[in-house]
Amino acid sequence: MTAPKKLFIKTYGCQMNVYDSERMAEAMGGAGYIETDTPDDADMILLNTCHIREKAAEKIYSELGRYKHLKAEKPDLKIGVAGCVAQAEGAEIMRRQPMVDLVVGPQSYHRLPELEAQAGHGKKAIDTDFPEDDKFEHLTARPKAKRAPAAFLTVQEGCDKFCAFCVVPYTRGAEVSRPAARILDEARDLVERGVREITLLGQNVNAYHGAGIDGGEWSLAQLIWELDKVDGLERIRFTTSHPNDMSDDLIEAHGTCSKLMPYLHLPVQSGSNKILKRMNRSHDADSYLRLIERIRAARPDILLSGDFIVGFPEETEEDFQDTMDLIRAVNYGQAFSFKYSTRPGTPAAERDQVDENVKSDRLQRLQALISEQQQSIQDSMVGRDVSVLFERSGRFEGQMVGKSEYLHAVHVKADGVQAGDIRRVRITKSNRNSLDGDLV
Ligand code: 5AD
Ligand code: SF4
Repeated sequence: MTAPKKLFIKTYGCQMNVYDSERMAEAMGGAGYIETDTPDDADMILLNTCHIREKAAEKIYSELGRYKHLKAEKPDLKIGVAGCVAQAEGAEIMRRQPMVDLVVGPQSYHRLPELEAQAGHGKKAIDTDFPEDDKFEHLTARPKAKRAPAAFLTVQEGCDKFCAFCVVPYTRGAEVSRPAARILDEARDLVERGVREITLLGQNVNAYHGAGIDGGEWSLAQLIWELDKVDGLERIRFTTSHPNDMSDDLIEAHGTCSKLMPYLHLPVQSGSNKILKRMNRSHDADSYLRLIERIRAARPDILLSGDFIVGFPEETEEDFQDTMDLIRAVNYGQAFSFKYSTRPGTPAAERDQVDENVKSDRLQRLQALISEQQQSIQDSMVGRDVSVLFERSGRFEGQMVGKSEYLHAVHVKADGVQAGDIRRVRITKSNRNSLDGDLV
């Protein structure tokens, strides 16, 4: 028997990339690779890249530069670039970093073993096509390996919305939903392997419109209700959603489906109607606030999370104040915020840009407001009973760490509790980024 080859995957960016990296590792398992957590002893290095942040491609080129000496020492080493930078840059990557052997875009991961076999010793392999079929169907799972209690499952990919700042419609392509039958099979398989919580992933997950098992087209809510029937699956989450796709059945499910967790990531990006229009968001601040009201009517304790961009072209101080007002009106439990930065090829990249110092100042003020809200919501958990899915042991003897239904990290002195257990916990203390509690 030959020794297995070693694969080092470095994952950047979103949860979908984390999920994709797992699938690629499994596919490469079939080609004789096991994973290693260091590039130093790897036979193949794969960067699963993200294009959403500024100078993403530049950062990948400099990361690749760091592997030059490894390639010099070990000519058999194969170096690949996957993900959204691979999709956006294509063959340019090999021109700029000739040591790269293969480039694979997000829709072609099922071809990775084939590309790996073709590439190496000066031979290049590249696939950045957008094929029609479901790549996940071809990504075979490792036989029944045990999994952590919480897992991701991609149900939808791509985006047709074309927000003026965003590269996703170009790198991930048009919206495609996976058929419900495959998602359910994968969910059952995950549960058999110890998973109790599944987060359904999609760039526009609530626009899900896949083939149902009854022959019709299903909404995300219909899919969630079917997953609700899977024995052993205790918690369902989904991310990321667009305000315009929050359908009535999905809002209602937040009140009636007990496995659906009371946490919703619903990015608004800005609170100024002028900026929202320029962003091509097709909703305004008011319609977003009314939507939040309806969601809270269905599930009053839901914790809301969002994404914000400050300093989008033409954003004035008044526009920024509209965003701050919207944040005050919503009261977020969590949020991700960014200074606008240009992405080549997107409409907003061509417009007049806001001064960098102004952006930094706005970001600071916005983040201060969000942290205040986040901390006060977290503090309000003290004295309450929450349900905790335990994921791992903590730093101290007998301590376990898990997540509440609201996605807060909870530390508990919990002798005898195992990863995968779900227990009631009374919250005793709120720290900066976590809660402490006792088993009830
Ligand atoms: N500049 C700043 N932030 C951006 N995002 C996406 N594109 C840009 C950009 N060009 C943010 C949005 C999105 C999140 C994933 O990243 O807020 O929701
Ligand atoms: Fe990008 Fe989301 Fe807008 Fe689609 S909806 S273009 S993924 S920000």
